[in-house]
Amino acid sequence: MHTLLTAEQLAAGIERLAADVRGDSIDKPLTVIGVLTGSIMVVADLIRRLEGPVQLNMVWASSYRGPATAPDRLELRLDLLPDLTGHDVLVVDDIFDSGRTMQALVSELRNRGAARVRSLVLLRKEGRAEVAMRPDFVGFDIPDAFVVGYGLDFDGLWRHLPYLAVLDTQDIARGGAEG
Ligand code: IMP
Ligand code: MG
Repeated sequence: MHTLLTAEQLAAGIERLAADVRGDSIDKPLTVIGVLTGSIMVVADLIRRLEGPVQLNMVWASSYRGPATAPDRLELRLDLLPDLTGHDVLVVDDIFDSGRTMQALVSELRNRGAARVRSLVLLRKEGRAEVAMRPDFVGFDIPDAFVVGYGLDFDGLWRHLPYLAVLDTQDIARGGAEG
């Protein structure tokens, strides 16, 4: 495992993102919608740098990556959301990989009557997008490697690291419980 972004670099990235969101704000409360579980660090650090009023809600998303022959299955749970009619929404996720999670969420939140839906991701993997949409705010473009820490997991582990690390193939082969 090796460090890709230090805690200091991540903090600087969050500060930039917060400034960009503030610069693009309208005179209306902002409804931040975090995507569980990976976005918890980004959401917690970002909202403390936004000037209010901010409302926070969470949704849950998970994409099961099937074998090459099976389609990926995206599962969304939005039952914790209040009525979003007319809200100015900012969807916050840890990483934009294929982009399918963010595309599905943005489209669903628009369907629910939000007045504006913007998207923010801490990380975006280069050369992986499979959708036409682009996130409105991106913290860091990173190489196509599997990363953990600062909210991101491998097999449920490593979310607690205060920095972002690349998981090497030996770590992956050893399995989540050890590496
Ligand atoms: P997408 O729908 O393909 O954009 O996938 C986004 C989701 O996949 C993220 O919210 C993460 O949960 C997960 N993901 C994608 N790449 C990584 C990675 O390198 N490490 C950990 N999780 C990842
Ligand atoms: Mg996720």
